[in-house]
Amino acid sequence: MMHINGETKIVGILGYPVTHSLSPLIHNAAFAALKLNWAYIPLPVNPEKINDVRKGLRTFNFAGANVTVPHKQAVMRQLDEIDPVAREIGAVNTIAVQNGALRGFNTDADGFLQALLEKGFEPKGARCLVLGAGGAARATVFSLAHAGAKRIAVFNRTVERAAFLVDDLRATFETVQFSCESLTPHSLDAANDSFDLVVNTTSLGMFPHVDTSPWHPDIPLPNATICDLVYTPIRTKFLQQAESQNLPAIDGTGMLIHQGARAFEIWTGHPAPVDVLRQTLLAALA
Ligand code: ATR
Repeated sequence: MMHINGETKIVGILGYPVTHSLSPLIHNAAFAALKLNWAYIPLPVNPEKINDVRKGLRTFNFAGANVTVPHKQAVMRQLDEIDPVAREIGAVNTIAVQNGALRGFNTDADGFLQALLEKGFEPKGARCLVLGAGGAARATVFSLAHAGAKRIAVFNRTVERAAFLVDDLRATFETVQFSCESLTPHSLDAANDSFDLVVNTTSLGMFPHVDTSPWHPDIPLPNATICDLVYTPIRTKFLQQAESQNLPAIDGTGMLIHQGARAFEIWTGHPAPVDVLRQTLLAALA
């Protein structure tokens, strides 16, 4: 049970809509577990009002916020300082308000890395295939490049978007072999057995479209670790394809937990109770 009083520090999630976000639930459970006098609330902000975010957070003395769709890029203009990782990714998912100054971070990339490492996948030297080229793909590709992947291929329905993503990061990570292709049965077939990791960053497979997958059902997956960022459902069609080939699978809950854990640490300065975040999330998704 949370006891809000005059000293409670407030954070929240800026997005539109935010009704389905699980972040309030997991962060409030973490605050309660550590007996921190903090509370996390939904902050639905209509895109038309995005320019009021700075004033709003400062006026109401917020300690910080998470940022989600569709504000991760637009919110950057409201900030006093942007962490180099967030600047390179081009998106902010966490804001900390310190002495009235708004500082922006991106914890998605580190969250993704932690999700891989906790499952025993080491991205250093790995050959990686990223499916999709949207916002989630950008944080994923940055994370893999930053961790020392040897090769990163980005396959996307709209190949121009993949090219844009790759061209942007090429200059920063000169040792990584980048490539991009159109996401078609032909390119998937050709990808067979030249990758150590395949990551789905598209929305394919997400509730209510649970029968869709980014990978064509008639084409075998490469002999790789298969990772899905989608976590509704936890066991996506894509991960079921991995299981049927006895391939190691990493579901989308790890990244959600670890991006939240990093944000929690930025705000509170305390190590996040990762097990509490995980148990709360899994109970909510069950
Ligand atoms: P996010 O921020 O969650 O990554 P996004 O930026 O809208 O969301 O990106 C969605 C990704 O899913 C894109 O790579 C998109 O492909 P396009 O760039 O071609 O739009 C991909 N995607 C969504 N629906 C898809 C579908 N039915 N088939 C293939 N790819 C799809």
